[in-house]
Amino acid sequence: MITGGTKGIGRAVALALGEVGYDLILTYGGDVEAAVDVERELRRLSSGCDVRVLRADVADAGSVDLLHDYLVGNDMYVDAVVFNAGLTCRAPFESMQREEWERVFAGNVHFPVFLLQRIVGRIREGGSVTFTGSLMGIRPHSVSLAYGVSKSSVHALVGNLVKFLAPYGIRVNGVVPGFVETQWHEGKPQEIRRSIEGKIALGRFCAPEEVAGVYRMLIENSYVNGEIIVVDGGYSYK
Ligand SMILES: NC(=O)c1ccc[n+]([C@@H]2O[C@H](COP(=O)([O-])OP(=O)(O)OC[C@H]3O[C@@H](n4cnc5c(N)ncnc54)[C@H](OP(=O)(O)O)[C@@H]3O)[C@@H](O)[C@H]2O)c1
Repeated sequence: MITGGTKGIGRAVALALGEVGYDLILTYGGDVEAAVDVERELRRLSSGCDVRVLRADVADAGSVDLLHDYLVGNDMYVDAVVFNAGLTCRAPFESMQREEWERVFAGNVHFPVFLLQRIVGRIREGGSVTFTGSLMGIRPHSVSLAYGVSKSSVHALVGNLVKFLAPYGIRVNGVVPGFVETQWHEGKPQEIRRSIEGKIALGRFCAPEEVAGVYRMLIENSYVNGEIIVVDGGYSYK
């Protein structure tokens, strides 16, 4: 199960897993066209993977019940959950509204915790949970306070969940992307983009496929547990 699995990083992870035969449940927030598109592409794969695509807004607490009920109603168990969908709020610090702050935390932190609480019994022993964090949760920036702080919480969740999930035989890890070429950066002014590229040792944004392989490794390796893997092209070295 991949939240936010219809575009960008989530879509690339879905394709990387679908190609090798994983059955997939992908969730999305509201862009039906992108959902139909990834479903079509996955059904075309020769691996013959099964694909279900569900609309489930991570900012809406009701989505926890929706996804839980879907698994139970279809008597489904999963091997891996990827908590990938993330929210931000770019309002200036001075005018940021409490509701916007709460929405970001609801989607990035509360939703995964309470979905996991409901479906932990539906994740098979030997399975895994993988979170999508963000470099902004490690290196504070000036665009979104709510995003940076909530992603730091996502990183903290990884370590803190290890002992809670160990009795179920479930591992938990996180991927921390730097700057990945997705719709997330749509409309970013060229000068800001160039300034970011100037700070990355590799001098460019990451392709979604490059980061997708890390998720697959974390899902398939049976001994990596409680780790955060930073995939930032060497941002820290420049
Ligand atoms: N791109 C980067 O440089 C970068 C860097 C670090 C971390 N990240 C993190 O990576 C994750 C994915 O980002 P991305 O760059 O792949 O973004 P993206 O290309 O915009 O894709 C976002 C995916 O999440 C879904 N989504 C958005 N809002 C949602 C909501 N309220 N409820 C449920 N699903 C929702 C989207 O579906 P709809 O469009 O239908 O809503 C889509 O499937 C996020 O957690 C982000 O914080 C991204």
